Amino acid sequence: MLSFLWPITQKVASEINGDVEITWYQGKKLLDTKNANFSYGSLDLILEEAFKYTHIKQKDTVLILGLGGGNFIKKIQQDFLHTGKITAVELDKEIIRIAKDEFGINTNDKIEIFHQDAAKFIKNTKNTYDFIFVDIFVDNLVPDFFYSTVFWNSIYSVLKPKGRFLFNAGILLKNSTKLDLIVQSLDKKMILFKKEGINKTNTLLFGEKS
Ligand SMILES: C[S@@+](CC[C@H](N)C(=O)[O-])C[C@H]1O[C@@H](n2cnc3c(N)ncnc32)[C@H](O)[C@@H]1O
Repeated sequence: MLSFLWPITQKVASEINGDVEITWYQGKKLLDTKNANFSYGSLDLILEEAFKYTHIKQKDTVLILGLGGGNFIKKIQQDFLHTGKITAVELDKEIIRIAKDEFGINTNDKIEIFHQDAAKFIKNTKNTYDFIFVDIFVDNLVPDFFYSTVFWNSIYSVLKPKGRFLFNAGILLKNSTKLDLIVQSLDKKMILFKKEGINKTNTLLFGEKS
């Protein structure tokens, strides 16, 4: 109740993202870094907007690159009654602990969490997925590798036929050329759709394998 009067924040040091903050704000628990919301704040609004343009089927096999606090998992379970298999990959050990202890994201026969670099995971996985959410940030930046054609060719190859992806492609990217290479390399084999200014800040790229 106190969080309706003022935010209550706990700071935790993490090896990859620096200090992260778990904040109770207006009755909701958020996960922030110094310069960005990772989960349950603006990400929740961004997902709300994203799901006007894409969808998840109840039994879809879902891959999440960048677990964060598990906002996406809770959202698809709530909005799409998703009950299929979810695989989440997260580089930051402390973030995995926070997802479990602070946000109740537990592994079970439907949810598996890999403590690994997503770049390595995507190169080695033998599985294929119906839906991939690429949401990799260190603080407020997407590391360059996740704009590379090498990475996106791997994403393409692990998507099932008719599989879809959602890429949270960056903050204040307007007029940037960062997505051009991805679009060029996938344009002939996928239906792509870019949306800028989501929640006034974020660029999203949507794709569906034809
Ligand atoms: C915006 S948060 C993800 C939010 C999350 N998708 C959710 O639904 O709550 C970005 C995450 O990417 C993770 N990350 C950064 N670099 C990574 C990498 N190379 N491999 C896997 N995860 C990475 C960060 O530690 C952080 O937890």
